[in-house]
Amino acid sequence: MRIITVKDYDTMSAAAAKIIAEQVRTKPTSVLGFATGSSPVGTYKQLVKMYKAKKLDFSQVTTFNLDEYCGLPKKHNQSYYYFMMENFFNHVNVPKGNIFLPNGVAADFKKECEAYEKKIAGKGGIDLQLLGVGANGHIGFNEPDSVFHNKTMQVNLTDSTIKANARFFESMNDVPKTALSMGIGTIMAAKKIVLVAGAEKAKAIKELEKPIVSPQNPVSILHYHPDCTIIFVKE
Ligand code: F6R
Repeated sequence: MRIITVKDYDTMSAAAAKIIAEQVRTKPTSVLGFATGSSPVGTYKQLVKMYKAKKLDFSQVTTFNLDEYCGLPKKHNQSYYYFMMENFFNHVNVPKGNIFLPNGVAADFKKECEAYEKKIAGKGGIDLQLLGVGANGHIGFNEPDSVFHNKTMQVNLTDSTIKANARFFESMNDVPKTALSMGIGTIMAAKKIVLVAGAEKAKAIKELEKPIVSPQNPVSILHYHPDCTIIFVKE
């Protein structure tokens, strides 16, 4: 695991976008894993800028998002589908049929999660996964637990995550209590991982300086990933 420290959010975003752009240029048919939340917004902006300047082409790219809230339809303005369309897909040329997110309103979540894993495998696995990290160390919606969960599944959000995400909803009661999330095994199978963390994640990143891997701090599993870059804004 490499931890690169940078001076501000824009530098972090530019550095992450550069790695993603290199991935797409080297392998135009790349399978990219995407995240939502405030951490990667700047990265998406940079990638859109490169596309608009004709420096990047996503026409052969396939994407899989980490997670989606259960119960929110695509058109809900807090669904992760909506977030991705607004912040990225509406501005670039990823073919609509190559965009995958778990379906938060699927009739059968178990089947939906199994199908999602199969779809990822069917595309040859994820070449590069972009991640953020929760203040409690979660990646995707893999919350601190007594075990690492392997595959995409329906997960309960912790109170601290519900509280943290309430800023995007009218009230805390409106935040969904469960989500469909790629598992730790799904994330770890990505060939390359890039994690972006703003200054507000200092505590979570500091924990990573310890050589301790524990499901109580899900992000710590990245110590075992062979090609993981963490880009962190150090104040
Ligand atoms: C989002 C996701 C989450 C976020 C994390 C940090 O798809 O999987 O793990 O990356 O909650 O969120 P922000 O960036 O809003 O602080």
